[in-house]
Amino acid sequence: MVNRRKFIQFSAFTGFASLLGKRAWSADGMETIKGKPIVISTWGSGLAANKGAWEVLGKGGRALDAVEKGVMVTELEDNCCVGLGANPDRDGFVTLDACIMDEFANCGSVAFLERIKHPISVARRVMEKTPHVMLVGSGAQQFAVAEGFPLEEQKLSPAAQKNYENWLKKSEYKPPAINIENKKDHGPFAPNKLESGEWNHDTIGMVAMDTNGNMSGSCTTSGAGFKMRGRLGDSPIIGAGLFVDNEVGACTATGQGEDVIRVAGSHSVVELMRQGLSPEAACKKVIERIIRIKGAKAKDIQVGFLALNKKGQHGAYAIHKGFSYAIKTNDMEKMIVSKYMME
Ligand code: GLY
Repeated sequence: MVNRRKFIQFSAFTGFASLLGKRAWSADGMETIKGKPIVISTWGSGLAANKGAWEVLGKGGRALDAVEKGVMVTELEDNCCVGLGANPDRDGFVTLDACIMDEFANCGSVAFLERIKHPISVARRVMEKTPHVMLVGSGAQQFAVAEGFPLEEQKLSPAAQKNYENWLKKSEYKPPAINIENKKDHGPFAPNKLESGEWNHDTIGMVAMDTNGNMSGSCTTSGAGFKMRGRLGDSPIIGAGLFVDNEVGACTATGQGEDVIRVAGSHSVVELMRQGLSPEAACKKVIERIIRIKGAKAKDIQVGFLALNKKGQHGAYAIHKGFSYAIKTNDMEKMIVSKYMME
């Protein structure tokens, strides 16, 4: 039973602290910084996405609204791996996965969704308007249309068409390799755009804390380019591609989804933060776990985790060199290069 006197003391203190816009403690004793919104997101596309999120966070809005608005920017970009402009599956269709989670552990997800511009917003509707967490395929599309989302034309973007034609020359399916763009030395801040039909595969994952100290996260992707039809990665799976626990922190993942799912990646990172690890240390531990499981095959895959805790501390870790993330606060806006295990 809650000790009433302690509870009153605690409430009075946290109320006073939040008035000052400074430190407070959540129910399980985690320190949290109120009044200092922050948003972080994966890869170079995160810079523009964070700006979108800031339109909400900068006005004192809710983290949930921010993480939806933020990744919608990337969903509209012409890039290899997110939104309708992305690379298709082996059969030539773009199929999209997304999920979202708020400070109350409400969550929603869509997967294998076709012809809808903003899967992240459909995921939010699933969360808010259905008794379910996840809708897939034609059912997700049917729900989206019933909710008023327009059904877009089934047509590849010019870049995706070119990439697909290149891919068709060999039609060779192999698991997506590590992020080739960054290996090609376009630098860590390059947006996730392919110039050719080479393999590439990434996601935008975003986590944020608002002025009330509440956290939310979002994740959206077209998954692996030229994947088998029907393949899902980690991005629409709560606990794999994204996890938020408002008492502790939030994490999102990028890279080869199969290997993120295997270790319940984002959930594992949050649980390690609960045990007291910093965001970076928690991300590193789960990367080490993946490398242990994969053995020699780890050299061929990329996975990156990005995490934020209730103190506003952030950190990332990746298997390979090349992962970076974008951060925005009241005082700064920049890219940060992630640490990694292998060159
Ligand atoms: N991380 C995205 C995917 O594997 O689909």
